[in-house]
Amino acid sequence: MSTPLSTDRIVIVGAGLAALYAALELAPYPVLMISPEPLGLGASSAWAQGGVAAAMAKTDSAQAHANDTESAGAGTVDAEVAEMVTRMARSHILDLTALGAPFDRDAEGNYVMSREAAHSAARVVRVKGDQAGQQIMETLIEQVRATDSIQVLENTEALRLETSGNAVCGVWIRRADRPSAPVLISCPGVLLAGGGSGGLFAHTTNPPRIRGQVIGFAARAGARIADAEFVQFHPTAVDCGEDPAPLATEALRGEGATLINADGIRFMVDQHPDAELAPRDIVARAIFAETQTGRRPMLDTREALGADVLTRFPALAETCARAGIDPVKDAIPVAVAAHYHMGGIETDLQGRASLNRLWVSGEAASTGLHGANRLASNGLLEALVYARRAAADIAATLTPPAQGAAPELHPDFAAGGQEMDSTAVQDLRQCMTTHVGMRRDEAGLKQALLALSELEAAQPNDEAFLNMCATATLIAACALQRRESRGGHYRDDYPQADPDLAQRSHMTLTEARAIRDRVTRSL
Ligand code: SIN
Repeated sequence: MSTPLSTDRIVIVGAGLAALYAALELAPYPVLMISPEPLGLGASSAWAQGGVAAAMAKTDSAQAHANDTESAGAGTVDAEVAEMVTRMARSHILDLTALGAPFDRDAEGNYVMSREAAHSAARVVRVKGDQAGQQIMETLIEQVRATDSIQVLENTEALRLETSGNAVCGVWIRRADRPSAPVLISCPGVLLAGGGSGGLFAHTTNPPRIRGQVIGFAARAGARIADAEFVQFHPTAVDCGEDPAPLATEALRGEGATLINADGIRFMVDQHPDAELAPRDIVARAIFAETQTGRRPMLDTREALGADVLTRFPALAETCARAGIDPVKDAIPVAVAAHYHMGGIETDLQGRASLNRLWVSGEAASTGLHGANRLASNGLLEALVYARRAAADIAATLTPPAQGAAPELHPDFAAGGQEMDSTAVQDLRQCMTTHVGMRRDEAGLKQALLALSELEAAQPNDEAFLNMCATATLIAACALQRRESRGGHYRDDYPQADPDLAQRSHMTLTEARAIRDRVTRSL
């Protein structure tokens, strides 16, 4: 048994863009950051290639950005949120620039912007082609390391929230690099910024740790979850057998790269007036269909970029080198992969969850910005905007401790704990890809709920696995309830959008489990 600890620090769970930015915004309010790895590039944000969407060009406007966000979102974007976030975008880019983020600039000093799907303008502020996530993260990590009020507990992960009535009063953490007994850290408030759910699926672009755990433990504590059924699949993960699958950024298509199949046909041309730059859900479904029919889809950068692809898109060049693909000579095989969860812990405009003293920002949150289909590069933007808003709300709600009254914590983790059963994890991920993936139907979703209940019952003491099962159950239950197709959620048995269902979904884990139990009794 490990000894519980108490602190006056705000605990931030996660170490990606939203976590780092919120910790800096909170300074000098003392913060304890729970980072599953040494601070660095293991967070999803660091893997983001495109950049940050922001109307920085004189010819562009926040309103046009909000309009594009709403149309990509397929009818369920919260317009107030979209307008607020897109209005704030410019100031965050300027602030990141001031912190040292090395955004690409032209000879006159203007931001160089990429074009991505469903944007009516080139609007994605980028770094060295496809290096935005990594470079922004490096800038913020340097700042965090230099900020005395931020203590980072590296190689630790959160497992469970402690609640008292409807309020969060602590978080259970353990070592992430070896089995250990969990330690309770009692604290005045918690900000969850620990990523989304992509890794719940067998094919994903997300880092290996990102498997819905944070959404899951918030749900297990009683927090309401919104839009769980809306998972975004990226159309162009490089199909080279790696897990996770490396991304080929949409900005390549913005530069003119095309999608062809094994017969050399540009199949998007017949499917949407914007062809390869159609909204992401539409391109992803087309790629999936090509894969299913055996006409291997490929991203062809040869004519648009030639040999420049190697220097202008270094992440892709590295992937191709590893996989033995020469993108200058050959098209790159691609497939869909779970990429971003539009759903997550329901939050209000200040980043507050439905439990008191709990705030959320980044992909773990569902703010209403993305609707049923996130507009490209709005993810990092949302993380920045809500990290700042949550930090401001925390500072306004809680009384900061007197200087020196919140010393650093040094938890002593006793031996114990449980290693996760890797076969159970792979079974869960395969179940999600097979039944809750790109195309869904009632029979498959019911099978998924049954399998999830069996997987959960077989591992009753593995909290990390139970967190994954909780999020997976919410996704499958909400997908079963939504009898229509919209954005990232496609039902073979209800292939059209139903105008009467153009609303966000809201569900607790108790409600999702009730649906699951009804289904399993009926099978
Ligand atoms: C991409 O670069 O294609 C991904 C960007 C995003 O998911 O926002």
